[in-house]
Amino acid sequence: MNGEDRDNDGAEALARAAEYGRKFRAGRHPLHPDAGADELRAAFDIGLPDRGRAGADVIDDLIAAAEPGLVGNIDPRFFAWVMGGSHPVGVAADWLTAIWGQNAGIYQTAPAAAIAEEVAGRWLLELLELPVECSVGFTTGATMAAFICLAAARGEVLRRRGCDFGRDGLQGAPEIKVFVSDATHASNLAALGYLGMGERNVVPIATDDQGIVDAGALGRALAAHEGPAIVICQAGQINTGAFDRFDEIADLSADRGAWLHVDGAFGLWARATAGLKELAAGAERADSWAVDGHKWIQVPYDSGYAIVRDSAAHRRAMDITASYLSEAPGDGRNPTHYNPELSRRARGFATWAMLQALGRAGIAEMIERHCRCARLIAERLAAVEGITVLNRVEINQVILTFARFEGDGEADALTERVAASINESGGFFLRTADWKGRRVLRVSVIENETDEDTAASLAREIEQVWAGLRSK
Ligand SMILES: Cc1ncc(COP(=O)(O)O)c(C=O)c1O
Repeated sequence: MNGEDRDNDGAEALARAAEYGRKFRAGRHPLHPDAGADELRAAFDIGLPDRGRAGADVIDDLIAAAEPGLVGNIDPRFFAWVMGGSHPVGVAADWLTAIWGQNAGIYQTAPAAAIAEEVAGRWLLELLELPVECSVGFTTGATMAAFICLAAARGEVLRRRGCDFGRDGLQGAPEIKVFVSDATHASNLAALGYLGMGERNVVPIATDDQGIVDAGALGRALAAHEGPAIVICQAGQINTGAFDRFDEIADLSADRGAWLHVDGAFGLWARATAGLKELAAGAERADSWAVDGHKWIQVPYDSGYAIVRDSAAHRRAMDITASYLSEAPGDGRNPTHYNPELSRRARGFATWAMLQALGRAGIAEMIERHCRCARLIAERLAAVEGITVLNRVEINQVILTFARFEGDGEADALTERVAASINESGGFFLRTADWKGRRVLRVSVIENETDEDTAASLAREIEQVWAGLRSK
């Protein structure tokens, strides 16, 4: 291919993707994938070609292979897991991110990307009402955000004991205990594992039926530990949506010189609304926060934020330096000071675009609407015999159980059958989970366009399916 052919080929591939993208977003698609793993394997495994192919043909083949395996998580009828809907403006910004092909490692490899992160990071702090001095790392999601925040925590709690993690690592360091809600998200334990802290280092703290940490138990556990300590609490428990009592926990952590980290992957966004912010009051007193952009502000995947109050601790944990990674006076911040990756996509553009596209009012409206939807679903279903709403619905999560009579030994199986029937009918997408020993139907309202009408039709569908099962 000569230069002109190559340009045409690339342009055609881009045009094909853009044209398809517009149509795809305008249409309705199956919520549940049509194809199983074997069919998808067959569709993708078209053989590794010896010679390159025309770009537009490759894009066509990619679309044909992928479409039957797509999950409808950008559809307002999607209520499974706590996932976002990749808002079209964020997608457009993400396309540009790829078009520009910037490597957001250091300022000099990608000045626009570095400054977009700097500015969007500051807007995030404003929106979440977090201290202005915090630094923000743009990550793939909340798991990596937790990893970064807890890496900063690990170094800092050791530094306060006179240890130098950068020099000595964990070998010979005093044991760090991590005090974690027993209802914590699994990703926090994974992040601790990546950081060299395992089950023996983790002290689970009992929670109530909503998953809220027992502050008394936390206080006693902290008092029994002499060494360096990290506390992890939750803004938005993954099943119930509950918030820990941050003020109390911040007092306890401060008394013990512990680092306080908040997993606020979705729940911390409550702080961006007038009506719900009280739920997360006191969270601003923490040392670090993990938040997702791809959840409640609908940035396309991958988008999370590692927010750390002590930016020096953040940098000590993440910095990568080498002579060729040059910095000059007047440069903007180097993204890699705050992230584990050196080469990565310029994640700040899509966040910048979504904050502009929704604005403060749009974000608050969406979150409050989703929470109204969750309350509507809970209120309608709580009135139905045999259905129990297990959580106090404060934000977007509703967990339900189904039983024909008190002590029904088949309740868990019935809950599974309700979910399976609804999924089979194809009108909604739902999933189940375990909560405090019960199988629950878990409804998460977090897709951009979900509104009260969709929520009401889901409640109707659940009620009808349950009526059918109950009478059998
Ligand atoms: C409360 C909570 N924490 C952490 C995570 C992990 O986030 P991510 O999937 O963005 O890595 C999630 C994801 O659902 C979550 O809901």
